[in-house]
Amino acid sequence: MNVRAAVCTGLHEPWKVEDVEIGDPHANEVKVQMVYAGMCHSDEHLRTGDISAPTEVLEFFGVDSLFPCVGGHEGAGIVVEVGEGVKSVSVGDHVAAAFMPACGICFWCASGRQHLCDLGMSTLAGPMMSDGTWRHHLNGKNVNRMTQLGTFAEYMVVNEASVVKIDPNASLKAAALISCGISTGFGSAVDRAKVTPGETVVVVGCGGVGAGAIQGARLAGARQILAVDPLPFKTDKAKTIGATHTAASMLEANLMLPDMTQGRMADVVILTPGVLTGDLIAPAMALASKDGRVVTTAIAPFNQDKVDLNLFNFAMFNQALLGTVFGSCSPRVQIPNLLRLYEAGMLEIDDLITQEYTLDQVQNGYDDLASGLNIRGVVNFSA
Ligand SMILES: NC(=O)c1ccc[n+]([C@@H]2O[C@H](COP(=O)([O-])OP(=O)(O)OC[C@H]3O[C@@H](n4cnc5c(N)ncnc54)[C@H](O)[C@@H]3O)[C@@H](O)[C@H]2O)c1
Ligand SMILES: [Zn+2]
Ligand SMILES: [Zn+2]
Repeated sequence: MNVRAAVCTGLHEPWKVEDVEIGDPHANEVKVQMVYAGMCHSDEHLRTGDISAPTEVLEFFGVDSLFPCVGGHEGAGIVVEVGEGVKSVSVGDHVAAAFMPACGICFWCASGRQHLCDLGMSTLAGPMMSDGTWRHHLNGKNVNRMTQLGTFAEYMVVNEASVVKIDPNASLKAAALISCGISTGFGSAVDRAKVTPGETVVVVGCGGVGAGAIQGARLAGARQILAVDPLPFKTDKAKTIGATHTAASMLEANLMLPDMTQGRMADVVILTPGVLTGDLIAPAMALASKDGRVVTTAIAPFNQDKVDLNLFNFAMFNQALLGTVFGSCSPRVQIPNLLRLYEAGMLEIDDLITQEYTLDQVQNGYDDLASGLNIRGVVNFSA
């Protein structure tokens, strides 16, 4: 069938709606009708070149380019067709997309770390992970899909490992945001940094992922949450979801923390700016206390392989620098859990959706994100 999908055809090319031909689901694949898709910054990385890969890596994926690519990896929808052997979902089930697939049987999945599933290695580009064939074509040519998903499309055909079944009564709009940004931020605080009651947490970058981190810190019992963002609109919103203090920069935060912490500095620093670069590590480490944990959640361009880090202080202050993917929690655990928190009124999502867009307006949504107007934009497929 032909579906309308927002596709990026090359570096710095705009997201543009095209008719993409998708095949029927093969074994272990499902077809999902999309209802909402969230507009995470990571899709923009693909367009701007902040997510890229060397030629030899692309060859490994069986492609010569990351383009063309159907965008979108946040979203929720309804299963409309299942291929042979699909066990985890049936037609009619409501599902959230998971940018980290979870096979359930590899070493990482079996040891409770589905966010590290070995299938994750095939998500950059390339054919279906089920059988290595292509299911998506544009003008007769193969099309990549963002993280083996492509939620900016009316329908997507994906491996069942890439969807998480959710409660049929759960809000699909909330599920769309929880499917990546909120889960990643929340887990950065709760599952990676393991914030404990009474701690002081700094969240650097207050977009969709930062909004998850602030709320994770709040629910974990942080006494103080310092939200850092140059845009007042973002820090104002941060105050409504748990931030107790705000700053426009890490430098300003550095000057505030001694007074806030009897000179000890922050227990936890979570880095969720739009793009991570090596030069942000030293100022982030300087915000952290002795025994402090610094979590790098934001994605850095592939060529960022140098950081400034004073190794004497790092060891003598007993500090930790931690990476995280999907907030270091299994999607099949985190997504339903956070939906329940949302339903209990303990997790704010609705107010983080600044604007809804049609599929044709995906580029407008990313322009608004770049202009600092959105915490999260959402594609509403019924609009
Ligand atoms: N690790 C993972 O698994 C994972 C998953 C999802 C997203 N991400 C990444 O997380 C990052 C955040 O995503 P998002 O969708 O929330 O982005 P966003 O663009 O919505 O928000 C980023 C915010 O950071 C602010 N900012 C930029 N530079 C800053 C700085 N130096 N100091 C303070 N604030 C700064 C911006 O004003 C903006 O409000 C992106 O890099 C995204 O790719 C990582
Ligand atoms: Zn994302
Ligand atoms: Zn696995």
